[in-house]
Amino acid sequence: MPVQIGALKESAPREMRVSLTPEIAEKLAKEGAQVLIERGAGERARFPDGAYKNVTWADSAAAVLGSADVLLTVQPLTLEQIAQLKPGAVVIGFMQPYARAAEVRALKERRLTSFSMELVPRISRAQSMDALSSQAAIAGYKAVLIAASHLQKFLPMLTTAAGTIRPSQVLVIGAGVAGLQAIATARRLGAVVEAYDVRSATREQVKSLGAKFVETGVSADGAGGYARELTAEEKAKQQEALDARIALADAVVTTAAVPGRPAPKIVSRAAVERMRPGAVVVDIAAEQGGNCELTRAGEVLEHQGVRIVGPVNLPTELAYNASEMYSRNLFNFLKPALAKGELAIDWNDEVFAQSCLTRDGAIKHEPTAKALGG
Ligand code: NAI
Repeated sequence: MPVQIGALKESAPREMRVSLTPEIAEKLAKEGAQVLIERGAGERARFPDGAYKNVTWADSAAAVLGSADVLLTVQPLTLEQIAQLKPGAVVIGFMQPYARAAEVRALKERRLTSFSMELVPRISRAQSMDALSSQAAIAGYKAVLIAASHLQKFLPMLTTAAGTIRPSQVLVIGAGVAGLQAIATARRLGAVVEAYDVRSATREQVKSLGAKFVETGVSADGAGGYARELTAEEKAKQQEALDARIALADAVVTTAAVPGRPAPKIVSRAAVERMRPGAVVVDIAAEQGGNCELTRAGEVLEHQGVRIVGPVNLPTELAYNASEMYSRNLFNFLKPALAKGELAIDWNDEVFAQSCLTRDGAIKHEPTAKALGG
């Protein structure tokens, strides 16, 4: 029996992405899989039903959930959706294991196999499956466009008959995937860009994009390429050096994160109060509590003339490209498990083993198991 791979019209509010694009649906069909999609699934990402070839249509989410052997999703499934999955089903998508305790437990209790795209190991072989990176790059790009649209200034220097316009100064805090894309975007738009990250490896990456690295004398290299939490003393030193640069910026884009923890607070109220009126802070970390003390997720607010933007789910705002990239990530992840149209997961493959969240009635990801008490 060929494996049946299903995709839903995402049910989360404001979510416009789709887990299966026409390109990937066709590729899966070529691999011998049967593709089952809820009608209208791609519409909000501008992939009309007519663009999908060789797929079977379902009139409801329940029909997909009750039939698919493998369910591909963008947002974590709800408890109701998990309850409707057929026994033995495999779910692949963003699972937010740190935030969705009830859903993880439900997956475990139903003995479903789930893979969390957040847990795909960051090894070279898995780069094409790295959905955190593909979506973070989109967020970084969009954050700069948001900053530019809120500024009453040009980003580039302009020499005009009406005189010379000075370029805007953009400060990017956190130079991971999102931050590096923000730097590149701000540079392309002609801004003068500075950036800061606690990981010292980012210094060269920042410079290679034509931005200046803010030196604070603090390094927080942690395990697996991620940052570790800073000590109080390190934080104060970092803060002092950064505050001086924040005060001079027209736009600050913050992208700092530590996996599984609330976003580090880096832009204090006092630092905002030192900024010039008309300056803008775009806080990509808004959903994780924000890098700026004043950020409110989903809101734009003004504090002493400084605008603070707390966007949520930025990748969905570029739903077309975001879906293309995400769907390719899912395909590259799943393909090694498809043998002549059937599902055969090699549990000795570290990519499958490490990204597995639940299986056989157990939470396989240790930090999540610990956090949820087994
Ligand atoms: P992330 O989204 O977890 O964090 C964003 C950035 O915030 C990181 O660069 C982190 O160092 C920085 N940060 C944390 N606390 C901070 C603080 N207090 N002040 C300033 N900055 C702070 O990270 P992301 O973007 O998902 O990736 C982190 C790194 O992982 C990459 O830059 C890269 O080195 C590695 N990576 C490796 C890949 C691979 O080999 N396949 C693919 C993608 C990333």
